[in-house]
Amino acid sequence: MARLEILRYPDPRLREVAEPVAAVTPEIQRLVEDMAETMYDAPGVGLAATQVGVKLRIFVIDIADEDEPSNLLVFINPELLEREGTQIWNEGCLSFPGVAEEVKRAEHVRVRALDAQGQPFELEAEGLLAVAIQHENDHLDGVLMVDKLSALKRKLIGRKLAKQASASP
Ligand code: NI
Repeated sequence: MARLEILRYPDPRLREVAEPVAAVTPEIQRLVEDMAETMYDAPGVGLAATQVGVKLRIFVIDIADEDEPSNLLVFINPELLEREGTQIWNEGCLSFPGVAEEVKRAEHVRVRALDAQGQPFELEAEGLLAVAIQHENDHLDGVLMVDKLSALKRKLIGRKLAKQASASP
């Protein structure tokens, strides 16, 4: 397994639209393992392939608390089948280090995807899991959490991250 480099906003590769995975091959499974390791190491609750510069429709999520056993969820070629209700969550993103902003999302979603073995599954989710699924699914279309914020907030966040990038060695 290997830790992958996480792209930071405003890296233009975060805006690319990911392509469907043609087949869940051993190479894809290795990528999924590397993405999971990268997410746990960060640490974060979700990571999309586009955040590590891979244009494929894959994301991983684990919303288990630190004192709970890990529960890795792998979504390959995900499709959001239903969105219902609304909720507002204070979201972060590994591509926006140090940023947390309130974002409005659906309260409940139903998603269909392939798992790490290439088997289809459907999942209903609410609360944080529903937020994470919507956030990561957006990444696959090049949509970022800042797109849900006001132009002013987006500008301030862009400035903050540019400052961080120039301060780091
Ligand atoms: Ni994100």
